[in-house]
Amino acid sequence: MRTHNIAVIPGDGIGPEVMDASLMVLAAAESAFGFTAELTQYDAGAQHYLRTGELWTSDLEERLRGHDAILFGAMGDPAVKPGILERGFILAMRKAFQQAVNLRPVKLYPGVATPIAGLTPERCDLVIVRENTEGAYVGQGSTVHAGTPNAVAVQESVNTRPGIERVVDYSFRLASSRRGKLTLCHKKNILIEAGNLWQDTVDDLSVKYPEVEVDYVHVDAMCFHLPVAPERFDVVVTDNLFGDIITDLGAVIQGGLGVAASANLNLDGSAPSMFEAIHGSAPDIAGKGWANPVGAVLSTAMCLAQLGEQEAALAIEAAAVQVLAGLPELSGPGMGTDTAGVGKEIAALVGAGLPPVAGRSVMEDLAGLKVK
Ligand code: IPM
Ligand code: MN
Repeated sequence: MRTHNIAVIPGDGIGPEVMDASLMVLAAAESAFGFTAELTQYDAGAQHYLRTGELWTSDLEERLRGHDAILFGAMGDPAVKPGILERGFILAMRKAFQQAVNLRPVKLYPGVATPIAGLTPERCDLVIVRENTEGAYVGQGSTVHAGTPNAVAVQESVNTRPGIERVVDYSFRLASSRRGKLTLCHKKNILIEAGNLWQDTVDDLSVKYPEVEVDYVHVDAMCFHLPVAPERFDVVVTDNLFGDIITDLGAVIQGGLGVAASANLNLDGSAPSMFEAIHGSAPDIAGKGWANPVGAVLSTAMCLAQLGEQEAALAIEAAAVQVLAGLPELSGPGMGTDTAGVGKEIAALVGAGLPPVAGRSVMEDLAGLKVK
């Protein structure tokens, strides 16, 4: 029996709801595909912080390190000052576990309403590789004369050759196994120091991957091309902050934040990877059952693909897509059912032998590009 030892962090807001739905789907996949997921739940997030003052502790780090993977719900709550949990927990985890790549597919599934008129699934099937530990997210900088009319804030963006190289190399491998096209997204006409380092790294590594066609697009131009002509892209590699921004745009194109999934990948086997929907904790709708759990469910499928359960991952994707196509609205009171209802419907279809979704699946990408 294959056993996967998975940590579960439901977190705040809609995190626990979408996690519950994902775990129903995971349980269905276990029985349909003959593996065992040994789950350990960890209490973390706003309530835990307010009660204990604890964010990311070395004790938690040590316990989480022993797992094969981490499923993460969402974190953030109006009772805690913005940024405390985000930086103190999410970014701390990404950094401590060197989750260098944030893999975010932008795939328009059949039957899903997109705000982009005339866009079809065939034209929208790409993956964004967001650098996940550096850039403006290092949290370095300083403010002098704070709170005065002469205040000066310096916010640093740190870019290292090894940090860039590992995500660019991963992106080349990914592009090589997909349609063979890699686009660097940056702002090298203005941010010349960082931009040149990114471009040099892409140029240097491209020699190793002659089969991959290389392209470059400025991040502002990306905001035009991504919605209007997503077929131009196969794999996009980008800096942490640009990646944060353009993946929200990508999510909108594919039907909204409720649908978008992500994998925070540790590439050297030194620590577990972490899987989360790209949406936040949405405290305004928490507890109402209005959240669409598909982003979380697909993130769980990405986790299984990464753990070698490709068949189960593809089956979850197919089931989620079928259910998604039947929802009158993608979230909110008009969804036709609630968060748990969507989870149950997907779970019921996981073992049904549905054909895989058309096109290249990120589940195959993850299974094929097994990291150490
Ligand atoms: C994301 C989120 C996070 C980020 C926040 C919650 C720290 O927006 O995963 O995209 O900025 O990376
Ligand atoms: Mn974001």
